[in-house]
Amino acid sequence: MGLTRLSIRNFRCISSADLEFDPTLNLIIGKNASGKTSLIEAVYLLGRGRSFRAGNLEAAIRTGSAEFQIHGLTTHPRSAIPLPVGLVQSHRQLLAKIAGMAPENLASLSENFPVQLIDSQAHQLIGGGPRSRRQFLDWGVFHVEPAFFPSWRKYQRALQQRNALLRAKRALKEMAGWDEELVVHGNALDRMRRAYLANLLPTALQWASQALGGAEINLDYHSGWPEELSLSTAIEKTIHRDYESGSTRCGPHRAEISIRINGNAARERISMGQEKVLAGSLLLAQTVIYRSLTGRVCTLLLDDFPSELDSIHQQRFLQRVLETGSQTLITAIESGQWIMDVAAKLFHVEQGKIT
Ligand SMILES: Nc1ncnc2c1ncn2[C@@H]1O[C@H](COP(=O)(O)OP(=O)(O)OP(=O)(O)O)[C@@H](O)[C@H]1O
Ligand SMILES: [Mg+2]
Repeated sequence: MGLTRLSIRNFRCISSADLEFDPTLNLIIGKNASGKTSLIEAVYLLGRGRSFRAGNLEAAIRTGSAEFQIHGLTTHPRSAIPLPVGLVQSHRQLLAKIAGMAPENLASLSENFPVQLIDSQAHQLIGGGPRSRRQFLDWGVFHVEPAFFPSWRKYQRALQQRNALLRAKRALKEMAGWDEELVVHGNALDRMRRAYLANLLPTALQWASQALGGAEINLDYHSGWPEELSLSTAIEKTIHRDYESGSTRCGPHRAEISIRINGNAARERISMGQEKVLAGSLLLAQTVIYRSLTGRVCTLLLDDFPSELDSIHQQRFLQRVLETGSQTLITAIESGQWIMDVAAKLFHVEQGKIT
């Protein structure tokens, strides 16, 4: 399970690579600017259809080339037969293929090849804005609840239409249809998020607490509108302010997960290293819940993650990674003996060449 094969052509500094991955721990070692993150990014693209790096995908086409190609072999989510997935980006367009056919949308890539990234920016999950925490939550809901994505799309569409009408100062009655959609799908999204959280929280809290030396951790989900009101009442009540700002204030697009450690807001109280360890343990817990709810493993991409952790925290974290049972690709500039001993496969990257 996971990604068994990967072939890359003309992606960033990698001109050509054909690799076979182990279903457990794969270690990727190379100097700065050798192409480690590019390799991780290529795998991430196969699973998400978009990059975690800023800028458009065209910029990832190797200098002087007409297109990049990334092809991988994973397994079909339900039948467990081998499933080829691929992406080709030219200067004109991005084409995805799943089993040789163009998928209806890029979300199909995620469905067929789930990947989770933990990189040097992972601490943003704790210290950054609410969007990163909503994305964290929605990754899980998307993968365990088939009704989530259709509802999410309808909700986004209603939200965009409503905001356009608000900005154009159109009459209230013109919005009624969109408001109805917003409420139906907004409530559905909220229900699905809460149901998923009920599954995630016991493991997530336990792992997070252990990662922070037994601290008491709390994660509280806020729907994105005042708790004492229904969504439809909340939307009605804020209409004047919505007109003023030209945007909709209430709804699951404004949800937040507040994280507290020993009763205090997490981001005010902990060090960067602790933020990383906490974020990492929440993301790992999510891969475990994914596995227990779907019976499948996801591919875990760890880029540069342990760089700011001391050796004890690194080792403890990697031990946890192994416990998740996820296929893992982990990059490092150099490697300690411990991880060399537990890695099933070792790749060296040098100036875009992977051996
Ligand atoms: N479109 C492109 N064409 C050719 N080279 C590119 C392109 N985009 C990025 N690069 C180069 O690819 C190289 C490798 O970048 P990458 O981020 O993968 O390195 P890395 O091994 O992760 O380095 P670090 O250890 O510093 O994180 C960089 O030198 C970068 O300039
Ligand atoms: Mg890198």
